[in-house]
Amino acid sequence: MFKIATIVGARPQFIKTPLISSEIRKFAREILIHTGQHYDSNMSAVFFDELKIPKADYNLGIGSGTQGKQTGKMLQKIEQILLKEKPDMVIIYGDTNSTVAGALAAAKLHIPIAHIESGMRSYNRQMPEEINRIISDHVSEFLFCSTSSSVKILKGEGIKKNVYFVGDVMHDIQKKIKNQKLKTKDTILEELNIEPKKYILATVHRQENTDKKENLINIIEAFAKINEKVIFAVHPRTKKYLKEYRLERIIKNSNIELIDPVGFLEMIILESNAKLILTDSGGVQKEAFLDHVPCITLREETEWVETVQSGWNQLAGTNKEKIIKFARNFPKPKNHPNFLGDGNAYLKIAKIIKEYVNSK
Ligand code: UD1
Ligand code: UDP
Repeated sequence: MFKIATIVGARPQFIKTPLISSEIRKFAREILIHTGQHYDSNMSAVFFDELKIPKADYNLGIGSGTQGKQTGKMLQKIEQILLKEKPDMVIIYGDTNSTVAGALAAAKLHIPIAHIESGMRSYNRQMPEEINRIISDHVSEFLFCSTSSSVKILKGEGIKKNVYFVGDVMHDIQKKIKNQKLKTKDTILEELNIEPKKYILATVHRQENTDKKENLINIIEAFAKINEKVIFAVHPRTKKYLKEYRLERIIKNSNIELIDPVGFLEMIILESNAKLILTDSGGVQKEAFLDHVPCITLREETEWVETVQSGWNQLAGTNKEKIIKFARNFPKPKNHPNFLGDGNAYLKIAKIIKEYVNSK
């Protein structure tokens, strides 16, 4: 039977995986490899439980480290597994170090790679993710794009073969979950003592916003000056730096409420009921747009340019005044042009892979 190795390792990849996994398992044998890049239960296990992702066949337990160390350790271990399992195809998602390690290991063993969420660019090579995207795209055989603009980007880089605009798999799963009634987890607003449209939701985790002290201070000071409750779901990386920079003193007795990272079902509820979202996350920018919730992005640029062009997202970087100004007065656009597909990207991807399998 045709064998596909899927490589994941970080929170957004767990969310992107399950729909495609269940489709490809109808015609191929899938080996799921978890690099262990994210390992806290609220960064990993919670998504496997909630989204009923099959248990990983391999958990490499790589954990945290510098860019080179983390990626290098992954590369070495993934190569060993690919040599043992001899898959006919490798699937990678997005732009993390788990993505690029999977791409390099597979490409050097001449295993065709399907890259999901291809062609995204920020044109900022200071971001580790930008390097990961460029490398992964250029060694992949099948390039599945979330937006039509990413197809054009790939074309501009000379990548034209097997490039497909299918839509966004995060859109797929968000839509699916919202269509199912969220009976069990809808107590999150009560637990946090917040009411719909009366709070702002925030997430921050980018390297440039956490490792640079000045940037994180600006962000926290801006949050503290917005006259609204800010529910801030803190990524472990950010938690570490909030402590290191002693920012708890600003947060204490302020309008900011720190909470641990939440599961995807709770996140969907928090996002859709928020009045506004403040984030530097790629996935959260998209979800805000899909929920018709205005978003302020704490970065100078975004890969999801359509969210900005449509007026639903404003780029504030870490400029305190801009963040406060945009948060206090965000004119909600009248139009909401869809650019992320129809919620069936996973079916389109599976169909194309199936056709390839049948041609073998
Ligand atoms: C990674 C991805 C980023 C993605 C994000 C999703 C890279 C280069 N970056 O960033 O593109 O948007 O995941 O969330 O791949 N940590 C824990 N527990 C965990 C995981 C991480 O404590 O379970 C802490 C460690 O201190 C670690 C730090 O977070 O050093 C950063 O983790 P890492 O996986 O290197 O990068 P992210 O910032 O999570
Ligand atoms: N997310 C979540 N719980 C949280 C924060 C984020 O489930 O506490 C989800 C979010 O809804 C989105 C994904 O994680 O689907 C985004 O991942 P992240 O922000 O870590 O990475 P990025 O998308 O920036 O790569």
